[in-house]
Amino acid sequence: MTSFDPASLLVPRTQSADEGPIIRMAQKSRDLRAKGIDVVSMTVGEPDFDTPENIQDAATAAMKAGFTHYAPVLGVPELRAALSKKLKTENGLDYGVNEICLANGAKQAIANALLSIIDHGDEVIMLAPFWVSYEITVRFCGGTPVVLPASVDENYKVPARRIAEAITPKTKLLILNSPSNPTGAVWTRAELEEIATLVKAHPRMMVLSDEIYEYIMFGDRMVSIGSLAGMRERTITVNGFSKGFAMTGWRLGYAAAVEPIAKAMGRMQGTLSAGANQFVQRAAIAALEGPRDEVERMRLRYQQRRDMVLKGLRAIPGVKIGDIPATFYAFPDVSELLGKKAGNHVIDSTDTLCDWLLDEHAVAVVPGGAFGAPGSIRLSFACSEAEIEKALVRIRTALGSLV
Ligand SMILES: Cc1ncc(COP(=O)(O)O)c(C=O)c1O
Repeated sequence: MTSFDPASLLVPRTQSADEGPIIRMAQKSRDLRAKGIDVVSMTVGEPDFDTPENIQDAATAAMKAGFTHYAPVLGVPELRAALSKKLKTENGLDYGVNEICLANGAKQAIANALLSIIDHGDEVIMLAPFWVSYEITVRFCGGTPVVLPASVDENYKVPARRIAEAITPKTKLLILNSPSNPTGAVWTRAELEEIATLVKAHPRMMVLSDEIYEYIMFGDRMVSIGSLAGMRERTITVNGFSKGFAMTGWRLGYAAAVEPIAKAMGRMQGTLSAGANQFVQRAAIAALEGPRDEVERMRLRYQQRRDMVLKGLRAIPGVKIGDIPATFYAFPDVSELLGKKAGNHVIDSTDTLCDWLLDEHAVAVVPGGAFGAPGSIRLSFACSEAEIEKALVRIRTALGSLV
């Protein structure tokens, strides 16, 4: 009998679908904790707050009322109507109920969108630093990521002029994430207008606008690029309940786009999963239409933490950081520290730096390579103030010891 190796059947996409560093650092933190080490983890992008009670109650009531069956593939009409209203009143976006497709998280909404419009040979412009999953999913669809980096001195926003230079006849999509994970950058109306002008000048180019951090902002409200003149047809707006409503584990997100695209996204949703969880969708109506004081309370806590983190990081020599107008992430540039030594150990990359911080100083942060910015590290401050305080002391001590 010939020997059979099941692993030899695996296709290359299983290799590229790897969120690597975040999961690796989070897992390593858990392993060290299991050994009794007091690790502070600033790795995962997940609110430390529980879902507001009115939303939990609405889910329980919906379950008891029998909403435990398959939902329509695009989502329950009542939620799509509530979302259509939300998009209009809060974002100036005009999408009807048939132009909204619910999904099991914004992550799946993004996958549905990319699977619908990206094929082999299509180029997708990605503004680095970017959320890890975009690049993986674009490759999954056979698309070619065209990565344009921006520095901390540019507030991590690629100027329109550089975007213009990267556009080719093969460009099909630009992925925009304002407010941004991992940098917290927010694009102004003027900056979005410039991007919109470039997109509209192209015969077949769209924008995927991921707005999932819209409720975690500390300054002016954000502008949705799909609300700008001529951009309704050119934009797929993605959003979800995970971050602002602290509903990560519920898995509910959505995408809004003109009907042919919404329909195609529905076909992807229906094929890969089915309609998103029915009682979760009912609870989401309560999230949208109920009181928002918990959302506001969480936002204010993130703001206090943002201030703590900024103050702490700015006091560390070799760490460069601008403002953080939104999100619960800090993304300092630490490239000045690379090449320094901890004893005999050369810190030659942010991967090495993050491993060393965790192994020797019991603080877990994520290296920037996976976000398309290898000179930076990401700290998530969706953790308690006490943990942040502890982490900052450890980071300051650690980085201060490098020579
Ligand atoms: C920018 C961005 N988009 C989308 C998601 C996915 O959110 P969801 O939990 O709704 O899938 C995340 C989660 O970290 C994110 O940071």
